[in-house]
Amino acid sequence: MADPRPPFAALGDKTPEAVFGGLPTPCYVIDEGALLHNAEILKRVQDDTGCRILLAQKAFSNYDLYGLLAPYLAGTEASGLFEARLGCEEMPGKETHVFCGAYRDEEFPELLEYADHVVFNSVGQLKKFGPAAKNAGKSVGLRVNPECSTQEGHAIYDPCAPGSRLGVTRAQFDAGMTPDLLSLLDGLHFHTLCEQNADDLKTTLDAVADRFGDVLSGMKWLNFGGGHHITRPDYDIGLLESCIRFAQNEWGVTVYLEPGEAVALNAGFLCARVLDVTVNGQVTNVILDASAACHMPDVIEMPYVPPLYGAPAGESAGSGVTCRLGGPTCLAGDVIGDYVFDKPPREGDLLVFGDMAIYTTCKNNTFNGMPLPDIYARKTDGGFVKLTAFGYGDFKQRLGSPKRP
Ligand SMILES: Cc1ncc(COP(=O)(O)O)c(C=O)c1O
Repeated sequence: MADPRPPFAALGDKTPEAVFGGLPTPCYVIDEGALLHNAEILKRVQDDTGCRILLAQKAFSNYDLYGLLAPYLAGTEASGLFEARLGCEEMPGKETHVFCGAYRDEEFPELLEYADHVVFNSVGQLKKFGPAAKNAGKSVGLRVNPECSTQEGHAIYDPCAPGSRLGVTRAQFDAGMTPDLLSLLDGLHFHTLCEQNADDLKTTLDAVADRFGDVLSGMKWLNFGGGHHITRPDYDIGLLESCIRFAQNEWGVTVYLEPGEAVALNAGFLCARVLDVTVNGQVTNVILDASAACHMPDVIEMPYVPPLYGAPAGESAGSGVTCRLGGPTCLAGDVIGDYVFDKPPREGDLLVFGDMAIYTTCKNNTFNGMPLPDIYARKTDGGFVKLTAFGYGDFKQRLGSPKRP
């Protein structure tokens, strides 16, 4: 029976084996149809409101797909030199914005070749690098911290937590800002959300208005950052659009949003096969050829239990058998999660995790000498294109000189 959950919508009525059975595992698959579905939603928000939406590359930077996304987006957002270069090279002719916690002297001149909007994280960095950015004709911004936490239980993702190093508080702004520095600024940026709905954006925007409304009256743009789960089925797009219009009307600014997740939400899969099944007391352990620690690190870092086709996460309540899925590495905690199966998986079975396009391929690693899974694009006609060819060389070249005498 088909799995009706959004991460598996792209499979329609087909089974994972029917769709992915011919691919070597482990592998990531990026679904072009699902990406286009998201892109159309984001385009509609831009057409409705006149805001501009950028792809935050930290979440999704599989640049083979940038050409598909480009007609729907205003450009890319980067976290530093390399992502700025990637966005500039792979989405040419579109905007390239960059925000970095702190820029380095030796990278800044090159960064200016790629970025058109440069956002600083402190008054000190604005003072140090702002004049060079301005002289190079760049649009200059400052990230502010509205000191408004709207998320619970994810302190690691809360840039508004007390003592945060991200963004300038009003007290820091007042202590360091001078008329000369203020004259460098074209825009303000805030980023405070993570997988949140528009009600939290509204709360945050009210805090921004309260703390920085006077500054915004003199700005050209306001960037709402990322963390807006716009392409999730229950997302309140009407409220998002009214927040955008509020900022446009109140301060006369161009509004930018830079979601990462929303662009590629539910647009990817990680396909794995079962290598072994063992029973230790009450626990049935299923060892896969994919690893949480290496191939989906957010499962451990965030943490969360990723959706698995056909098997809900959690404990069996009566029917079904609970199995613990883990990777083949030596890390005891390399556990993907507990899932309820009709019957325990067997060696060779294909298991497919959903929502695997975001914070995966751009974040994976070769700990334990684990191979990097190859990445495939699934075209809208159902065919596959292999985008990478990882092997031993990718593991080795990150660790030293391959031609040591
Ligand atoms: C400054 C900034 N912009 C955009 C994003 C993208 O956020 P998301 O992928 O949750 O939409 C992040 C994520 O951490 C960020 O730090």
